[in-house]
Amino acid sequence: MDIALIGYGKMGKTIEQIAVSRGHRIVQTIDIDNLADFVPEKMNGAQVAVEFTGPKTAFANVMKCMDMHLPVVCGSTGWYDRLPEAEARCRQENQSMIVSSNFSLGVNIFFKLNRYLARIMNRFPSYDVSIDETHHTQKLDAPSGTAITLAKAVIGELDRKTGWQLDRADTPDQIRVNAFRRDSVPGIHTVRYTSEIDDIVITHDAHSRAGLALGAVLAAEYIYDKHGVFSMDDVLQID
Ligand SMILES: NC(=O)c1ccc[n+]([C@@H]2O[C@H](COP(=O)([O-])OP(=O)(O)OC[C@H]3O[C@@H](n4cnc5c(N)ncnc54)[C@H](O)[C@@H]3O)[C@@H](O)[C@H]2O)c1
Repeated sequence: MDIALIGYGKMGKTIEQIAVSRGHRIVQTIDIDNLADFVPEKMNGAQVAVEFTGPKTAFANVMKCMDMHLPVVCGSTGWYDRLPEAEARCRQENQSMIVSSNFSLGVNIFFKLNRYLARIMNRFPSYDVSIDETHHTQKLDAPSGTAITLAKAVIGELDRKTGWQLDRADTPDQIRVNAFRRDSVPGIHTVRYTSEIDDIVITHDAHSRAGLALGAVLAAEYIYDKHGVFSMDDVLQID
């Protein structure tokens, strides 16, 4: 598979290593010093784009990929207010995309566990729930897209929760999501249920970016010859 990398930072570089080790070719790499190359004539026959830039640039980059009819895997977080627009265009034009707040197998298993636990906890109102996320200090958005995904799943299952707030919970129907920034942490997420009697805690602690990058490459392998809006559930088939 021939891949164009949009964003050649920490994730772009790790994805390159894993893609090459799986026999793929990186035929174009776009970053801020060569934005002029992000045009159809310079895509060098790329069959899929893998976009990891950041919250401010992701939507425009996804649109640019669609302008070129290039299937796109987007890992950038912090832009999901515009996700419905991107998905609608993808469906309307029969294009191909996958957006995930977290591409790692472990976190996607953790997502399932989170939903299952929340379903159980709906019957036990003596427990309140909060979410902690810790990431490296260069991360631009807070809370993490992964923490928001976890919070939304809990809200979907727990009748007593209707929303989330960053670093506070003004009313009992809000989930407090705490964001911590520390040195070079790739990503730690914890969902905690607390009662007067005990705590029930589930945690995912990423040891490196390798799992995230492998998942993004698996997503590219999955979507590059398909049409539609896909999720990591389609790619990983965890159920
Ligand atoms: N979904 C996931 O699994 C996952 C995992 C890790 C990181 N992320 C997210 O991915 C994004 C990138 O993370 P990172 O750790 O690689 O960040 P990074 O800062 O190391 O890399 C981002 C790169 O994008 C480049 N860039 C900025 N604007 C650009 C543009 N318009 N076009 C092309 N390149 C541009 C920057 O120069 C930089 O090299 C962030 O939003 C982060 O939160 C998602």
